[in-house]
Amino acid sequence: MSKAGRDLSKYRMETRLALAGRDPARFDGAVNTPIHRTTTIVLPEVADLYDRPIKTYGLEGMAVQEALCEALVAVEGGAGAVLAPSGLGACTLALLSVVEAAGEVLVTDSVYGPTRRFCDTLLKRLGVGVRYYDPRVGGGIAELIGANTNAVLLESPGSLTFEVQDTPAIAAAARARGVATIIDNTWSAGVHFKPFAHGIDLSVQALTKYQLGHADAFMGAVLAATPEGYARVRACYKQLGLGAAPDDAFLVLRGLRTMALRLQHQASAALEIARFLEGRAEVARVLHPALPSHPDHKLWQRDFTGASGVFAVVLKPVTQARLTAMLEGLDLFAMGFSWGGYESLIVPCDKGVVRTAIPWLKEGPLLRLSVGLEHPADLIADLKAGFSRLAN
Ligand SMILES: Cc1ncc(COP(=O)(O)O)c(C=O)c1O
Repeated sequence: MSKAGRDLSKYRMETRLALAGRDPARFDGAVNTPIHRTTTIVLPEVADLYDRPIKTYGLEGMAVQEALCEALVAVEGGAGAVLAPSGLGACTLALLSVVEAAGEVLVTDSVYGPTRRFCDTLLKRLGVGVRYYDPRVGGGIAELIGANTNAVLLESPGSLTFEVQDTPAIAAAARARGVATIIDNTWSAGVHFKPFAHGIDLSVQALTKYQLGHADAFMGAVLAATPEGYARVRACYKQLGLGAAPDDAFLVLRGLRTMALRLQHQASAALEIARFLEGRAEVARVLHPALPSHPDHKLWQRDFTGASGVFAVVLKPVTQARLTAMLEGLDLFAMGFSWGGYESLIVPCDKGVVRTAIPWLKEGPLLRLSVGLEHPADLIADLKAGFSRLAN
């Protein structure tokens, strides 16, 4: 789709994001890949209908969905990408593409909550066992892999609690036993962590977050390291009858054009805010992998090239009434789920932390912050005012 013969891998990320998934010569010079709203593809020859390896139905995705897949590969690498209607849909698609009846998946205990719900309900109903493991297990995963293990699911940093996993060690142990690995790589947006260079088979992106960046649509993607892995996920996508709306694919592609700039601003603002929080007496711990105080900071430094704008903070114990006053009085940080958009969000998330493999040490309330595009000084002032409500 990108201008024929153009190798984008030689370019830096900003340049790749500007070029990927565009071929003006194919579309009357249009700088953006057009949207085709179509169910039906009309074909001139009878043989086209059944006997040729060509696209025959709009659900397979038209030019704009193909352009997006190509752009995602230009960002994160791999042999191909398959879209899904949401980030959660991408997580479940990846899992369904590798599990087998009477098989089993090993799932990080810090996995995104709705993915955990899928494992505990639908996967179990299909006869697939699920065992949760300590996100910091590293190469020790080898001892957990059994004869019927189909896959190991990673998420790094983990949802809400931000443990960084030793991905290369886990991937190597799984590969040695012929077990597939899937990582939810949404936090890095595929920019700051390259799963395939660390031995992972499938990478999941919730494109709803940074790729879209404007909190106005849902989409997900599964990227595969190899053509075989891609074919497997793509086949599962078709078997399930999934599709990705062309208008939404266009929005994600548009979001990609500015993603590097947004990520840069959001990462640096988030780190500034994390440092501010670390200096506050009301705070017990800040869970941001780019802070030297984070227990996995060295792993993050080894494997990541940067951060994004989402992290968490553990407050010292405080009454619910004071916490409510702090949160409900905030002017800029709004309370809401999701993250990665232009608007700053904060959520109390103790109720979302589920642990069955290792205990989660609760010193006090856990808050997740998603830093948007506002000025960090304004956001810090908003939090400072919040702390004064916490104290009174
Ligand atoms: C780590 C992670 N993965 C997947 C998802 C699911 O994305 P979506 O909201 O598009 O279903 C989320 C959503 O918050 C998430 O935080």
